[in-house]
Amino acid sequence: MNAPQDIGSPRANSLSRRDADTIFHPYTNAVANERDGPLVITRGKGVHVWDEDGTEYIEGMSGLWCASLGFGEDRLADAAARQMRILPFYHGFSQKSHPPQIELAERLLALAPVPMAKVFFCNSGSEAADSAVKMIRYMNNALGLPEKKKIISRFKAYHGVTIAAASLTGVPLNHAAFDLPLDGFLHTDMPHPYRFAEPGETDEDFATRCADNLDRMIVDEGAETVAAFFAEPVMGAGGVIVPPATYFAKIQAVLQKHDVLLVADEVICGFGRTGEMWGSQTYGLVPDILICAKALTSGYLPIAAVLINRRVFDAIAPKTEELGVFGHGFTYSGHPVPAAVAIETLKIYEEIDLVARVKQASALFLKRLHALGGHPLVGETMGVGLVGAIELVADKTTQHSFEPTGKAGAYLVSRAQAHGLIVRAMGDRIAFSPPLIISDAETAALFDRVEIALTETAVWLENGGLTGN
Ligand SMILES: Cc1ncc(COP(=O)(O)O)c(C=O)c1O
Repeated sequence: MNAPQDIGSPRANSLSRRDADTIFHPYTNAVANERDGPLVITRGKGVHVWDEDGTEYIEGMSGLWCASLGFGEDRLADAAARQMRILPFYHGFSQKSHPPQIELAERLLALAPVPMAKVFFCNSGSEAADSAVKMIRYMNNALGLPEKKKIISRFKAYHGVTIAAASLTGVPLNHAAFDLPLDGFLHTDMPHPYRFAEPGETDEDFATRCADNLDRMIVDEGAETVAAFFAEPVMGAGGVIVPPATYFAKIQAVLQKHDVLLVADEVICGFGRTGEMWGSQTYGLVPDILICAKALTSGYLPIAAVLINRRVFDAIAPKTEELGVFGHGFTYSGHPVPAAVAIETLKIYEEIDLVARVKQASALFLKRLHALGGHPLVGETMGVGLVGAIELVADKTTQHSFEPTGKAGAYLVSRAQAHGLIVRAMGDRIAFSPPLIISDAETAALFDRVEIALTETAVWLENGGLTGN
């Protein structure tokens, strides 16, 4: 194994150089990529991936919170190849269908955390969020409630990047320079006591205040104008925010009072991540609509699903007949190849008893995660199941953040990468979301590398790293 390298100016003719010359990347500093090139990952197996120079890394984020079965699961490759030979493409428009999407829909409805009536397929979490928004509008138009259209999500929520999904998303970076959010998308508190609780406020009191603020927002807007509330059970890209125990019970009481639908965004939490099959089960959500993607195929092929309950479907269906069709759908909605891979993924989850396995692996994961709280730089550790984060702070006692935010986090991530670990910084919060098949030895190796990166970050900070370039 070669020693991991820091990113630098890419060699002529390397994949990194060719990338820098040709690709405009998602979620990347375009100037830095053109100058330094990306880390080019060429293969993967289990929790490990390798770059173009043969350097090995633990993928501590399952890629983008999705490769739950790790890299190189042959059964998924075989399922794709098999389906490609039988029926490589078919669609669901105009009353057409095919076996993989039917079986997948049946499996998802059987697995759903609450009774759901129908499944609408799309290709990404963003498409699923946009589709849910459009269904909610359609539903309330069908019900003769044309004013009831506003949607509330939370500050730092992440629901994707297409126009409506990005409007739901509550991250400033997703709005700045894009003229977003659209009108009618509102953002309320995120349930993060460490940052937002008032002095002396318990988690319980803080949760009550979040629910009261939501109630006030709905009343101020007029309940007759508020259609739905979107929430990730555990906020992912917003920093891995595990809600206080009673938060969702209090929020749902407010939603019920005002007849506001609940949409659970299970794009990260779905399929075992939080130690139950769904984040909705871990936190007691009773959604009317549920969206999922990512681990539905362990990230191997793109597919997403919107599950809707009987109330939503029954409101929408007659309108589709009146208008002729439901005027929404994607060429690749329910594509047979990712659908076949999703079926195989769900079979594997069943066979390996995924939830029990995550619960077992979670014990060491959370122990090592919370142990990082003893480090002078770590202000908060937070986690559930196999997802967690640490927050780096300038002062543990006052909880003051570093200024400017994000530099220390980025440095730590670069040191982790130099030691063979890929993790992700969201500002100065560092997220961990390893493949769900991670062994205890691999979890130990992951956190050993985090500890080294933390030590090096502390030295860098002492040497004035924040003020240097
Ligand atoms: C909770 C959540 N919802 C939606 C999305 C958007 O999914 P996609 O990137 O597939 O559009 C993401 C992506 O990370 C997510 O984490």
